[in-house]
Amino acid sequence: MLILNSPEVTQETCLRWKRESPIAFVPTMGCLHDGHLALVQRAKELAPKVVVSIFVNPLQFGPNEDFEKYPRVFEEDCRKLESMGVDLLFHPSVKDLYPDGFSTKISVGEIANRLCGAFRPGHFDGVATVVLKLFEITSCDYAVFGEKDFQQLTVIQQITRDFNLPVCVIPFPTVRADDQVALSSRNSYLSSSEREAAQKIPQALSAARKEALSNPHQTVGELLNKITPELSREGLKIQYLEITQSRRLLPTRPEERLESLSQPHLFVAVYAGSTRLIDNVSLNSGQ
Ligand code: PAF
Repeated sequence: MLILNSPEVTQETCLRWKRESPIAFVPTMGCLHDGHLALVQRAKELAPKVVVSIFVNPLQFGPNEDFEKYPRVFEEDCRKLESMGVDLLFHPSVKDLYPDGFSTKISVGEIANRLCGAFRPGHFDGVATVVLKLFEITSCDYAVFGEKDFQQLTVIQQITRDFNLPVCVIPFPTVRADDQVALSSRNSYLSSSEREAAQKIPQALSAARKEALSNPHQTVGELLNKITPELSREGLKIQYLEITQSRRLLPTRPEERLESLSQPHLFVAVYAGSTRLIDNVSLNSGQ
C-alpha cells in the first residue's frame, strides 16, 4: 500500500492509474472500525484501484467540538487498510490540504442548515469543501459513503449534482455492533453505562419504523410523541428528533400523516454523557 501525504503526488499517481482503470475512494477521518472496512470492501467490488484518505478535517469542527480530542490511531489504521489490499492511503496534514492562502469554501445552502446542521453551523460546508478537494485529488470514479451519516451523504449527492462532478456516489447501509448501536469512531468515548444507554437509540428507531409501517395513518407528531420517552430515558438527552420527507430531507409538520409523506425518514441526535451520537432510519415500506 502506497502512503502519500502530498496532494500533488497523490493527484499525479491517481491520474496515471485512472488511464488504466477506474478508482473507488473511501474518505475517512481514521480510527477505522468495521463500518469503515465494510465501505472499503464495497470500494474493492467497484473498481480495481482503491484509495482511502485519513484526514481529521478542522473545517468541519465547531470551536467547542472534539477536533483536538478526535481519536488518531494511524499505525493501527494502516495495518487494517494494508490487510484489506488498499492501493493508496492519502494522509495529508492540515497544512498540506489548507496551505497559507487557502480561502475558497463551499456554501451548501438550505439542506446544510437543518437537522445536524442547525446545531453544527458550518459543519456541512466544511465537509463539502474537503470532499470536493478529495474528489479532485483522487480523480475517483466512485466514492462510498455510509448511511449512518445520512445527511452528509445527501449533502455529497447535492454537491455532486450541483457541480456536475464525474463521481458516482455509492451509499452503504449503516453497520451496527451486536447490541445494534451504529458503529462510530466516537463510540470509543462512551463509558460502559453510556454504551448501555446508547442501545436505546437503535431500539427506539426500530420501534418507530415498526409503528410507522403498521399504522401509516398516524401523524408525524403522534409517532414522535411515542418514541420521545424511549429516548429520554436515564443517560440520554435528545438534541433533535425529526421526521423528514423526500430525498432532499425536507421538514414535515406534526399534523401531517405518515402515509402522505414521500420517503419519510427519521433522524435523531442524542447526547450520552458528553458524547453526541446520531442515527437514522427510513420509515418507507420499500426500504
Ligand atoms: O464521515 C467522515 O468521516 C467525514 O465527514 C469525511 C466524509 C471523511 C469528511 O471529512
